[in-house]
Formats: sequence, structure tokens, C-alpha cells
Amino acid sequence: MEFPVQTANPAKAESACLVVPVFKDGDLLPAAAKLDDASERLIGQLIERGDFDAKLGNVQLLPFAPGLSADRLMLVGLGERGKCQERAFIKALDAAFTAVAGLPVEDVAVAFTDVPVPERSIAWKARMTAEAAQRAVYRFDEFKSEKAPRPRLDKVALLLSDSEAAGEAREGARIGNAVGQGVAYTRTLGNLPGNICTPSYLADQAEQLGRESGGTLAVEILDEAALEELGAHSLLSVGRGSEQPSRLIVMKYQGADSADEAPHVLVGKGITFDTGGISLKPGEAMDEMKFDMCGAASVFGTAKAVLGIRPKLNLVFIVAAAENMPDGRATKPGDIIKTLKGLTVEVLNTDAEGRLVLCDALTYAERFEPASVVDIATLTGAAIIALGHHATGLLSNDDDLALDLLDAGEAAWDRAWHLPLWDEYKEQLDSNFADMANIGGRPAGTITAACFLSRFADKFPWAHLDIAGTAWTSGKQKGASGRPVGLLTQYLLDREEEARQVENES
Ligand code: BES
Ligand code: MN
Ligand code: ZN
Repeated sequence: MEFPVQTANPAKAESACLVVPVFKDGDLLPAAAKLDDASERLIGQLIERGDFDAKLGNVQLLPFAPGLSADRLMLVGLGERGKCQERAFIKALDAAFTAVAGLPVEDVAVAFTDVPVPERSIAWKARMTAEAAQRAVYRFDEFKSEKAPRPRLDKVALLLSDSEAAGEAREGARIGNAVGQGVAYTRTLGNLPGNICTPSYLADQAEQLGRESGGTLAVEILDEAALEELGAHSLLSVGRGSEQPSRLIVMKYQGADSADEAPHVLVGKGITFDTGGISLKPGEAMDEMKFDMCGAASVFGTAKAVLGIRPKLNLVFIVAAAENMPDGRATKPGDIIKTLKGLTVEVLNTDAEGRLVLCDALTYAERFEPASVVDIATLTGAAIIALGHHATGLLSNDDDLALDLLDAGEAAWDRAWHLPLWDEYKEQLDSNFADMANIGGRPAGTITAACFLSRFADKFPWAHLDIAGTAWTSGKQKGASGRPVGLLTQYLLDREEEARQVENES
């Protein structure tokens, strides 16, 4: 999608639809006021007569607009001015673009950068606009014989009253466009069923990203023979019951001037289906365990966003992919396995498999001598109990890294919440027979899962994002959300900015 910036009088903007946000108090924002002047006070009158209620998220389409160069006018309610913070702003964006996506139009012009949102820049508003537009036109209908008509929207002009901010708006839209594409990719990978999206399918995706990257993304796939040779028995133990072979997928992006600059590493949990294995899950809603590779999907989506933005950073994207199935060959409760690091694990529950693939991937990451490692995983149902579906769980062995991720989530409006990783919790993983058990009992399941991982992350600053509650939506709107691609991309862009500042100082 294209997001040109327009600073000319909005009344002269030629587009299929002008999208104009309005507050309940009737005081028009700069662009709206200009449109009102040019259209014999069309907007002002609609509000005064009570024909349009500017309640947050209300949308009204006017099929023609006298005095304006656009074919249509759409009013979008922002609600009360005093309550216009991030949540309201994004709600209005989503309502507007959902309505626009249902119209037979290809290009619209929107005036959202005018909306005052405390402490948020024009760039941020432009970015959120670009992300929302792409969220609204996203469809996953590959497997529908009769497809609903596709949204035709492919151009969203950003109307700007302050021409000096044009550069800033353009840059915000550029980032939002890339993040939006990464989010869409993550959603599609997540939505694909387990019989299609297998570990080898994910490996093929990596190869394809590599080909599309014009040589900037170097891809390496470790198959089961290579993993055996390496000693990644923990990762291999998870896929043992499956007909689908496991894979460790490694994608390297060199954007920094020097190949020696320490990379930031993202590691994704890629369980392409989680039956629980021999510790079989109950049948209800088990289909949703196709989403158990959403951590991996978010790594792919972030890689895609990075390829769109091209930051000057070195990055490594790792995906640990396996299918967790019960079988005669499957790992059994009580089995003891040896991890790539050499630590032994007593597998007390084969449904706690995510940590078993991630621990070997974390050990693999050591070879890159990383500046930071962040893993992303639909790791525990307990994360949903603790935080519901709004915040991603964040745990880390480094408080600075934790703060950086919290900040990135806040900036991208894809938020996380910090949970403790105290030594007190670690005892819950004690095993009578091996170096550690793979489960820590009912209390604090999200924390003990992270404690398990922390044993394999002692060589670098590390953080863990538990996205069990945020990676997808259940119920009627069932589908992958694309989170936390926004957070991760922002985190990486912040590291690029940090490196630039260090360079300027020296
Ligand atoms: N993939 C699940 C976690 C999950 C469950 C995410 C439901 C979202 C919704 C993970 O592999 C798992 O099964 N975890 C177990 C761990 C337990 C056995 C210690 C869980 O959360 O029940
Ligand atoms: Mn499981
Ligand atoms: Zn799982």
C-alpha cells in the first residue's frame, strides 16, 4: 500500500473518499475546518443538527460532498477530546479503515495526523495510520471456495496541515507500512493450518525471504541429521512423535557497516501443532494449537519488516520448528534428555515442549556472541491467566533490556508487562533424576517456564516474551493478531538509533 503525504488544501484533495475525524464537542480540527468552509458548512451542520454523533468509533459516509474535490466524505467519531489517548485514536482509525475497506474505492485521503494525542508525534500518528489501514484490508480466504470481494484500497494519502512536518509523516508512514506488511505476514503464517504450515514449510518460507532479500538475508536450515550431529537432542525430542521432521531455521541480516558488530538475536517458538504429545491436551479448542508457532511467525514478520526498513544493524533470526505429537516413538513423561548445552532434563510433561525447543535454540545463539537475545513464544496458558489478552508477558535476566522492550511496546502500542524472574521460583524446577525438570507445578507457570529458559541464557542479555494471550484471538473473530511484530521492530529501530548516537558522540 502507498502512503503519500499531502500538504495542500484538503478541499482540493482528489480522492475517492476523504476521511475526517471529529470530536464530540464540535470544534473542528484544522483539516475538517477547511473542508467545512469549502462545503457550505456541511460538517458543522451535520453535527449541530445531531445528524452525526461523534461518539468514538462512529462512522458516517456521505456519498457526495459539495465544494470538495473528493467523491465521498466519511466522518469518524473521536469521542470526547479530553479522552483522546492512544486507545481512542487507534479505535477511531480501525473503525474508519474497516468502513473504508468495505467501499469500492482504491484511494482515500485521511486527516488523522491532525488529531491531538498527548505526547504522540506526527510520525507516530502516521505510523499508526499505515498499520491500521493494512490491518483493515487483511484477509485470509485462501481456503474459501467462494471469496468475499477483496478490499480495493491501495493508496492512503495523509493530509497534513503543517507542511514542515511532511518529512516526519513520511518517515512514520514508511515504518508503519513495513510493520503493517510484517504483521500481515505473521497473521497469515499463524492462520495457516497445521497440515500445511509444518516445520519444513517454515523452512521454505525462510528460503523464500532469503531470495526476496536481494542477498541481505543469509539463510541456513539445520535438518534432523544436522541437529543430531550438533547435539540438539532437546529440540529433537519434541518432534520425535511426529511424521514431520524438525528444523532449526537461521536467518542472518547484515545491515551494520561492520560484519563484526554484535548482532541482536530473535528466537521464535515454532511448534506448528501442539497436541501436548503423550501428555495429550483435552480436545476442546485444540485446533487453536495451530497457533503455537506464532512466536516463530512474529520472527518471520519482523524479518519482513526489517527487510522493508533496512536498519543499520546486524540481526539473527532463529526459529525452532517442530510438531508435538503422540506416537510410539514420542518422548514419554519421565524420559530424560540431554540438551545442546549439556544439561539434562527430566520431561515430566510432554506438553511443556516449547521450552524444550527454545533451550537448544538459545544455546545455538551463543555462537553469535549477541548484543541481546529475545525469544518469543506462546509458552504458557498461565500467561493468559496472569495478563489476559492485552499484555504480552516479559521476563528478563537484564533490567535494562527489560526496560528497552517495555519502552518499545509502549511506543509501538503493542505493550508488554514485566514479571519477576527471582531465584526463589527456580527451585520449582528441581528434579530427583536429572539436572532439572521441564515443569514447575501450578503456581506461577509463566515464571517457572522463563526460569527454565534462563538456565540456557547465561551468556548474553536475554528476554523472553510470552505471547500466549496476545498472539491470536479466539471465538468468532478467531485469527492470528500479528503481535508482537510492532514491539520487536520498534525495539530493533531503537537499537539502531542508540548505535547512531554512540557513533555521533565518538
Ligand atoms: N502451547 C502451550 C501453551 C498455551 C496453551 C498457549 C493454551 C496458549 C493457550 C504450551 O506448550 C503448553 O502446553 N504449556 C503448558 C505447560 C504446562 C504443561 C506446564 C500449559 O500452559 O498448560
Ligand atoms: Mn504444549
Ligand atoms: Zn506449546
